[in-house]
Amino acid sequence: MAQVDAVIGQRLRSDVALVDQIGHYIVHAGGKRMRPKLVLLFANALGQERPERFELAAVVEFIHTATLLHDDVVDESSLRRGKPTANALFGNAASVLVGDFLYSRAFQMMVSVGRMRVLEVLAEATNVIAEGEVLQLMNMHDPDITVENYLRVIRFKTAKLFEASARLGAVLADAPPVVEEACAAYGRALGTAFQLIDDVLDYEGDAHELGKNIGDDLREGKTTLPLLIAMERASPEQRDLMRHAIQHGELEKLPDIVAIVRATGALESTRDVARAEARQASECLELLPANKWTKSLLEFAVQSVERHS
Ligand code: IPE
Ligand code: IPE
Ligand code: MG
Ligand code: MG
Repeated sequence: MAQVDAVIGQRLRSDVALVDQIGHYIVHAGGKRMRPKLVLLFANALGQERPERFELAAVVEFIHTATLLHDDVVDESSLRRGKPTANALFGNAASVLVGDFLYSRAFQMMVSVGRMRVLEVLAEATNVIAEGEVLQLMNMHDPDITVENYLRVIRFKTAKLFEASARLGAVLADAPPVVEEACAAYGRALGTAFQLIDDVLDYEGDAHELGKNIGDDLREGKTTLPLLIAMERASPEQRDLMRHAIQHGELEKLPDIVAIVRATGALESTRDVARAEARQASECLELLPANKWTKSLLEFAVQSVERHS
């Protein structure tokens, strides 16, 4: 990971001062670097140790960071990685444009690897992520979305990049198609579990530990699984309160809604769905060689569900 950070530092450079400033601000604010870790773990698990893996690991982190810059503008978020968001500090225009810089820098970097399959995987992933964010925009303030619709959004906006990261490790290692698909399926399931937990933490997490504000989803009128489950189990009066809050993004009702979400067991049920996804991810590893890297991938699946930040 130190080598990935070295590549990130080099590739972040720009002669345009504001690009350099915002790029460094967001990248050096921290972040768990989960997607680059997946690239490295899968490449290593499959016996691939060429230096291109550091380049591709940096690529997926750049794409992720670009989506965060754009996402915080769209979501009007003010806290990210424990610091004011780039949009809060530098404004929406600068955030969107530097997000574009990171996206396009990522494409320059992936071209440098010289493999059409890598381009195919990442072109598809970035396109699907954009669709996911737009799908979610269409669902805003709608309390009547289905669980299937919600799951589609999270598979697109979040799981797709985890899937691509895992798949890239396999592509670099020239793994046979069935192994590549198993790696991709691991990433997809892990990414789904990860976003489900993100949606739980938006109700019960700790802003300090999480580095993001709590209650943002309700403020934005985002009908996530904890709300869907709670609405199904709540009394008619409680359901009306929740529907109204989703439709109008009423944050002053957050304490009442958190209480309902907790009392109905919706957070624990959402965690159960995430655990099932993580289990599914682990099962995908059966097709890979048993070594210390696949062991780390098994632990990674557990950690992504049992996390608090
Ligand atoms: C945040 O992702 C966006 C989601 C998909 C929930 P991470 O939680 O991986 O963000 P950082 O990189 O660690 O800040
Ligand atoms: C983030 O989704 C997904 C992408 C950036 C594509 P969210 O909006 O749910 O994540 P946070 O809570 O802002 O990190
Ligand atoms: Mg957001
Ligand atoms: Mg969002």
